[in-house]
Amino acid sequence: MRMTVFGTGYLGATHAACMAELGHEVLGVDVDDEKIARLTAGEVPFYEPGLPEILRRHVESGRLRFTTDYAEAAEFADLHFIGVGTPQRKGEFAADTTYVEAVVTGLAPLLSRDAVLVGKSTVPVGTAARLQDLADLHAPVGVRAEVVWNPEFLREGFAVRDTLTPDRIVVGLADPASPARALVDEAYAPILESDPCPVIVTDLPTAELVKVSANAFLATKISFINAVSEVCEAAGADVTVLADAIGMDPRIGRRFLGAGLGFGGGCLPKDIRAFMARAGELGADQALTFLREVDSINMRRREKMVELAAEVCGGTLLGRTVAVLGAAFKPNSDDVRDSPALAVAGMLSLKGAQTVVYDPQAMDNSRRLYPTLAYADSAIAACEGADVVLVATEWGEFVELDPAAVAAVARGRVLLDGRNCMPGERWTAAGWTYRALGRGVPEVPAPVPATPVAAIAELVRA
Ligand code: UDX
Repeated sequence: MRMTVFGTGYLGATHAACMAELGHEVLGVDVDDEKIARLTAGEVPFYEPGLPEILRRHVESGRLRFTTDYAEAAEFADLHFIGVGTPQRKGEFAADTTYVEAVVTGLAPLLSRDAVLVGKSTVPVGTAARLQDLADLHAPVGVRAEVVWNPEFLREGFAVRDTLTPDRIVVGLADPASPARALVDEAYAPILESDPCPVIVTDLPTAELVKVSANAFLATKISFINAVSEVCEAAGADVTVLADAIGMDPRIGRRFLGAGLGFGGGCLPKDIRAFMARAGELGADQALTFLREVDSINMRRREKMVELAAEVCGGTLLGRTVAVLGAAFKPNSDDVRDSPALAVAGMLSLKGAQTVVYDPQAMDNSRRLYPTLAYADSAIAACEGADVVLVATEWGEFVELDPAAVAAVARGRVLLDGRNCMPGERWTAAGWTYRALGRGVPEVPAPVPATPVAAIAELVRA
């Protein structure tokens, strides 16, 4: 089957390559000449495990091509996926949908026969209906461009696997009897034949809301455990043991109860904000005010990490050297969009610490975003002369670091675990002070509430 994919970022490039892997003939489309040139040369412009291999394979076989030419795309296929970005609008919570709109208004006038436009981007509910109006307005007379919504749930780092073996496929249609359904079914038929998953066919607003609700739920789950983490810190409890224990209840589940620096990336933070903004526009603003708290809990973890670093440095970061291991928003990614790791590195630097950052994949992106931080070529090089070593992204190579090898180059012996991923006992046994978010010693002794009886006894003694 022939199809196009508009947008060749983390989502679009993966979708295009995976559709070729399924046996389809795919044309990837983007407005960025440089990206298209690199993809055409078989090079993935970002880090995603497993993607370079399938991209190269299908570029070489000719089943996967790339272009910036919308007219070529309109002519090439009748099924057009849209996977362009919907970033947070500057100075607002709402999502910026101009890129999805631009695809529809750019493509629709060039169509010479009926086509189906399948939105995959995460959008505010109601966008698909608006895009349908735009398609109707811009398509030539007699040509029907039908908008369908098919949200994408892929996780960076597992994008290929999530695309080829999804948990579920959600398809939103304005009309359940629409012929568009058959085209979408045909595109996903190879997946359903080899490893079937549930297919949920619904209306457009439900399909749009499934995606933002899923991300809001995941963000809430992470912030829940991070809120409990704050209480654990105050009470001297261990949030990781607590998460194991509550996670054993199948109604709760252990996944996404990883306490630490919290969520970042190109999706969760902006999606919860856009969801709140949209609910407000729809007059349901009270429904999602709790997401503001989810956001605040998440951002507080970054500040807490900086406070902890200052505390272990004796109260001030001025003149101290901190090695920050990790810059990507999570391991197996080079994505630094809203990365908690990089935000913490930036804050440490602003508080006067000499901050040396290392990440296995995200160095170029980090340098672009935070050019004033110091960068090292390896984890060990970053730790040279460090008073404090802070693990901010749970890359496997950090988890496996040898405490003795780090001790041989570092000045101090304090390890801060921002992701509750490090083998603390191993480091403690090697002479390190190990501190992690949500665990260990309470910073302030828990105050004993004064009971009236205790207060009276105190008075009598006085
Ligand atoms: C997310 C959704 O999982 C995916 O379904 C959607 O399509 C896009 O958004 P992604 O942004 O790739 O995917 O990352 P995800 O694995 O969800 O992690 C998001 C953030 O949460 C990361 O910063 C991660 O470190 C953090 N996280 C995750 C935690 O802090 N604790 C956890 O237990 C899990």
